[in-house]
Amino acid sequence: MSMNTSQIELRLKRITFEAERISSFEFVSADANPLPGFQPGAHIDLHLQQGMIRSYSLANAASADPLYYRVAVQREPNGRGGSRWAHDKLRVGDKVWATPPQNDFPLDECASSTVFFVGGIGITPVLPMLRRLDAIGREWKLMYASRSPGETAFAEELQRIDAGRGRIVHFHDSEPGQRLEIRATVAALPASTHVYCCGPTGMIDDFLAVTAERDPSTVHYERFGAAQQAATEGGFDVVLHRSGAKYRVEPGKTILDVLLDNNVAVPYSCCNGVCGSCRTEIIDGQADHRDDFLSDEEKQANQAIMVCCSGARSKTLVLDL
Ligand code: FES
Repeated sequence: MSMNTSQIELRLKRITFEAERISSFEFVSADANPLPGFQPGAHIDLHLQQGMIRSYSLANAASADPLYYRVAVQREPNGRGGSRWAHDKLRVGDKVWATPPQNDFPLDECASSTVFFVGGIGITPVLPMLRRLDAIGREWKLMYASRSPGETAFAEELQRIDAGRGRIVHFHDSEPGQRLEIRATVAALPASTHVYCCGPTGMIDDFLAVTAERDPSTVHYERFGAAQQAATEGGFDVVLHRSGAKYRVEPGKTILDVLLDNNVAVPYSCCNGVCGSCRTEIIDGQADHRDDFLSDEEKQANQAIMVCCSGARSKTLVLDL
């Protein structure tokens, strides 16, 4: 099997249990070619089975010439199948295609102090950030919320990174009085401190609400989930411009659901309107945008739609497919 030249082929070298339902997967180059470098906060898109593409943040130390990429996957029994496939089917020695690292969550290395608010698997992109900040002598603090100690990924590794300096505070939702209070913590921080958040949607929403008054250049976040409900009201037709095929989007379905049901090959990954994988050009019709990927200007221009979560305001939507 071959892919276009912008993809890299990886071979799975190691799977490590990290916490309940979370394993890390270490990939090396499948050929003799060096792996592209990456900065803290970067992710790769793994091409899994049947057109499934999933974005995973890189957890190993950032490097210009990495020997491997390490990602962490939390098994989601009710997800769309990517994490189940990785946990249940992916085996050491298997080859997968990936896009080279991209970074939508860069670290500002100029900040003299940085505080991270992390929920669950959101710890992944923060690991290389902590290492990098240590390497350049910057102050940091990590507020890490997880359901319980057994569901806390990379706990031992974090202990090693902290090296007994007390910079990490754990919060476990399953234990009384252990809620991470983002508002109180942020309120006590100097205005110059940079704050980062990576975690579930509710946590990001809280974080954005309490940091709304801070200088935007000091506020950084990466969403794993959608901020808005996907458009599943249905009641419109999707026409594929290239093939002429026409499909009804019934209530309860997204455009992506309908395309996949009809074996239309369309890339997708997060299914939450955040990664950009499913961006599709609009030929005609009016989109009902529900994603967090397109800018307000792009939404107004109505030239593209994220089919995983957005719908239509017009009776028919003609797509460049
Ligand atoms: S699949 Fe990620 S934005 Fe649609």
